[in-house]
Amino acid sequence: MKLIHNAAEVVTVATHDRIETHEQAAVLVEDGTVEAVGPSDELTRSYPPETVDVAIDAGGKTVVPGFVDPHTHAVFAGDRSNEFEAKLAGKTYQEIRDDGGGILRTVRSTREASTDQLVDLLLEQLDVMLAHGTTTAEVKSGYGLETETELRMLKAIEIADDEHPIDLVATFLGAHDVPPESNTESYVDDVVESQIPAVADQGIAEFCDVFCETGVFDIEQSRRVLEAGRDHGLMPKVHADELSHLGGTQLAADVGAASADHLLYSTEDDAEALSEADVSPVLLPGTAFSLGVEYADAQQFLDAGAPVAVATDLNPNCYSQSMGFAVSLACIGMGMTPARALGAATSNAARAIGRDDGPGEITPGSPADIAILDAPSHAHVPYNFGVNNVETVLKDGVIVHD
Ligand code: NIG
Ligand code: FE
Repeated sequence: MKLIHNAAEVVTVATHDRIETHEQAAVLVEDGTVEAVGPSDELTRSYPPETVDVAIDAGGKTVVPGFVDPHTHAVFAGDRSNEFEAKLAGKTYQEIRDDGGGILRTVRSTREASTDQLVDLLLEQLDVMLAHGTTTAEVKSGYGLETETELRMLKAIEIADDEHPIDLVATFLGAHDVPPESNTESYVDDVVESQIPAVADQGIAEFCDVFCETGVFDIEQSRRVLEAGRDHGLMPKVHADELSHLGGTQLAADVGAASADHLLYSTEDDAEALSEADVSPVLLPGTAFSLGVEYADAQQFLDAGAPVAVATDLNPNCYSQSMGFAVSLACIGMGMTPARALGAATSNAARAIGRDDGPGEITPGSPADIAILDAPSHAHVPYNFGVNNVETVLKDGVIVHD
């Protein structure tokens, strides 16, 4: 039995429309699960700190659910820091792509890496994510763009999931770009006829995503990929309306995707459609920040009543492992309140990756995935931007970072 006591604040549940906090509170953990949350004086009377297996004095600190990062491309090889300078010099994402950089550069280095190397590289990313309070994360393939490397990326995710405390949810993203040796039509055939069946056969992904974007995969090609995925048991997700208003958000609503992600160019009608179809909007403010473009309009999704989630989009173009920083940008760049942004990074993020059965909250019965912050309230996550105030992390009740 573990007791986190004396906390200045415990956030038990946060979503887009509600937050539940307790001041001077304690959390009791038993067998990896949250057993009780209540006033610290009451819980310490029933369970004196000297009698439990581990007692953590969280005096002056804040206890929040471990962050859930619902959109990452955390497995990749190579370095694209040179593109950072190109972006600063005014190049757009598409121009860098047209020059042979961007996704295809990472594809070249990822194809060359062994599966063991991919596992090691992913574990390094996961260590940083964990130190920043992430306890569950989605990870996509998509830097192989042929069956063998796509399968090896998903295998690396499966191995890292076994080896690392962070729980991983795997997404197949074969339709991330068109490889240089192919053309769009025949590549979509390959994704649909060869890659998706192979992925389904190995049972190593839960979701199928597509980069639905002008000059990449159009609406009909994207729909084909998503429907083929669904026929093989992979739930759809969509990179939608990131660089232009192509219609990916409406497509996500049409196919009943688990989430539609990015949404920089989505309109009010798109937001309504998502909400009606019960598709989670996943906003990635780090991407807009790193590209120096306008943020998504979070308010239109909140007005539509949608369960807005926030993610890092960790990838070589948007190189941040920090959900705390994403929460800061959600507030400062997209006008969300600290409570809503925290909800977007916990409960709502879990919902966006089909984990609405416990992670992302600290309530009796939920897994004891907990971050203890060296801060007096949850508002300090966004308020104290650019700083990691995560001090201790528990995963399934085990202290995995301190
Ligand atoms: O979510 N938009 C497509 N995919 C990623 C970028 C991947 C990359 O640039 O390597 C994204 O922004
Ligand atoms: Fe992405």
